[in-house]
Amino acid sequence: MVRIVRATQAEIDEAVTALRDGDLVAFPTETVYGLGANAQNPTAVQKIFEVKGRPATHPVIVHIDSPKYLHRWVREVPETAQLLAERFWPGPLTLIMPKNPNVHDIVTGGQDTIAVRVPVHPMAQQLLTAFGGGIAAPSANRYGRLSPTRAEHVRDELGDAVRVVLDGGESQVGLESTIVACDASGVRLLRPGAVTLAQLRQVVGDVEIGAPGAAPRVPGSTPTHYAPSTPMTIVPADEIDTRAEDASADGQRIAVLAQRLPLKTYPSVTWINAGRRADAYAHDLYANLRTLDKAGCVQILVQEVPADEKWDAIRDRLLRGAAASEVEEGADSAIAGSIGAMP
Ligand code: TXA
Ligand code: MG
Repeated sequence: MVRIVRATQAEIDEAVTALRDGDLVAFPTETVYGLGANAQNPTAVQKIFEVKGRPATHPVIVHIDSPKYLHRWVREVPETAQLLAERFWPGPLTLIMPKNPNVHDIVTGGQDTIAVRVPVHPMAQQLLTAFGGGIAAPSANRYGRLSPTRAEHVRDELGDAVRVVLDGGESQVGLESTIVACDASGVRLLRPGAVTLAQLRQVVGDVEIGAPGAAPRVPGSTPTHYAPSTPMTIVPADEIDTRAEDASADGQRIAVLAQRLPLKTYPSVTWINAGRRADAYAHDLYANLRTLDKAGCVQILVQEVPADEKWDAIRDRLLRGAAASEVEEGADSAIAGSIGAMP
């Protein structure tokens, strides 16, 4: 595997020109690839929604290269946000804070808060510094589908709709950033990620879990997200081999995402052993699901992951992916239950 972490000056110039022209640029971050537009150009940001097929009410994250530019986007930085930014930026943490009045509604979905992140990926930093402004960017996938963790995922899924795709190799973390909302009423974890609940609590003490009230404003918090096209089911570890064996006996093609090798060879089963380390599992998760999605199987069985906090973000994405396949009563409560179970 070639690890590309810096772009050439020509590539950066091309990307910056595209952003200034109001076009879209896909770029690598340490979490997943982003689909970026000039955050100060509402027509450009509009293109993100068109290309993704994403509802206009769903706000996007503004990426900046340094916290020193926060005041351009945020009306007032709560003390808790300041502490979290100092500890975790640059890195896989997004902070939601009261927005500066001059921020366009299309960026915030008309809300009075804004999501900001300072990514650590060197190529993202290069791009942001050269551009000199904020880049509004959701994950560079179609609405509701798997986030891209490699440049080729973006090219496969979005093709010509994106003027420039910067290739920064494989995203190191592989899952979307931890999202935390900070305001006068306290700190809330809205989406688990590589920065864990325990790490957040070490810095700010009390952290609530989930959005207040009923209606989720974060599309990633609706159950039908992060899904492959093939129906996906989560299966206890001691049942996968039986399920694989039964499917094979019926000549059914199924895919398995496990954390160990199969007990024997099953002719019609595509089996990926993603291992027992949470960080490596997360790094490969979306690429593995893309591979299994293309394997021509009727179903993807995913081995249930450990209850440990290290697996919270992974469990969250898997449950949403599986819920998207079911879309039935109970999907919501299954997810709420899993997040509520976080220590
Ligand atoms: O790791 C990441 O966060 C990646 C990379 C590219 O930075 N971005 C990403 O963006 O995952 P997206 O749009 O796929 O997910 C961001 C989530 C969305 O669910 C969005 O609704 C939520 O953040 N969000 C953005 N602004 C918000 C706000 N003001 N209040 C509540 N949720 C917000
Ligand atoms: Mg997304």
